[in-house]
Amino acid sequence: MLDFKRLIDKLRAERSLSAEELRQLIDGYDDETLVYAAAAARAVTEAHFGDGVYLRGLIEVSSRCRNDCRYCGLRRSNRRAERYCLEPEEILAACAAGYRAGLRTFVLQGGEDPALTDALLVPLIAEIHRRWPDCALTLSLGERSDASYEALYAAGATRYLLRHETIDEAHYRLLHPDDMSLARRLACLDALRRIGYQTGTGMMIGAPGQTAARLAADVAFIARFRPHMIGIGPFVPQHDTPFGREPAGSVRTTLLLISVLRLLAPRALIPATTALATLDPAGRQRGILAGANVVMPNLSPCEVRRKYAIYDGKAAAGCEAVEGLAALTKELAAIGRRPSFARGDYGDRHDAGHENSENQYN
Ligand code: 5AD
Repeated sequence: MLDFKRLIDKLRAERSLSAEELRQLIDGYDDETLVYAAAAARAVTEAHFGDGVYLRGLIEVSSRCRNDCRYCGLRRSNRRAERYCLEPEEILAACAAGYRAGLRTFVLQGGEDPALTDALLVPLIAEIHRRWPDCALTLSLGERSDASYEALYAAGATRYLLRHETIDEAHYRLLHPDDMSLARRLACLDALRRIGYQTGTGMMIGAPGQTAARLAADVAFIARFRPHMIGIGPFVPQHDTPFGREPAGSVRTTLLLISVLRLLAPRALIPATTALATLDPAGRQRGILAGANVVMPNLSPCEVRRKYAIYDGKAAAGCEAVEGLAALTKELAAIGRRPSFARGDYGDRHDAGHENSENQYN
């Protein structure tokens, strides 16, 4: 019988495990291991971030996508998907509402919509930067050219989320169409880092074809790449995709992986994702108690939220930004946490005293 607690202790002390140790942990963990890993991860999170949980206002800018990923409801061959692309004015209005509610990071996320050109994005990013210079802007717009990443960075975006999805070639091909490649994805991630973005990557837990060995390889990749942000959430089937009848990923394994990643990367920004909250009503809280330190309230206009249907049953809490935040504040208070209204850049200390206090939630 393997001593999983010893593996967790080793992970905490050395911030690394071999791929084989990781595989054994993922394959064989039990409830006791899960609780032990979460307690260790929570202690590390609290040491670095105190009781604050960073908030990022998520704006889903476009549901159009030129890609055909087999897991995603926004894939181009999904004729049933309802498509929209927000106007710059609508995006600015969403930022304004988020700012009024106290948020200091905006995340523009969308499918790879050819309409989202640099000509559109550069002035939009510059305008957000001009209006709210105290806010950080994160982009999550998929694969683009190095020149585009550079132009968007120069305009004022300083963070970029691009999940690698899987580091295993064969698995990447199972999840994605032939015109996409893991090499290209990794080249984008390298470019983002080189340009200076705080870079986020990650993967789904329990996607079709994922094995413990493949998941262990993903964790090993993250340990090598050392991203500033790590986004993981369970796979959730979307009924109009080729994987629509596949089982959802495991909430427990997602929680284990959040804890493992926290122990590997103590300062990383790790969200308790919407996918986790979709499969478990307490998912956000459980994610935070397992080592996550970020939540991403949705700032998208209410009318478009249901159209951004990446997967089925996507949790869409209160449509009014401020009401949503009040509910979130309660949810966090119930587990001894509070929302932090700091920008929360990578490497910030939680006690640096630069939080704005002009909001009703402190
Ligand atoms: N279930 C869970 N997560 C998904 N994503 C896409 N489709 C699904 C799904 N069916 C994730 C991908 C992508 C991120 C924006 O959403 O990992 O990178």
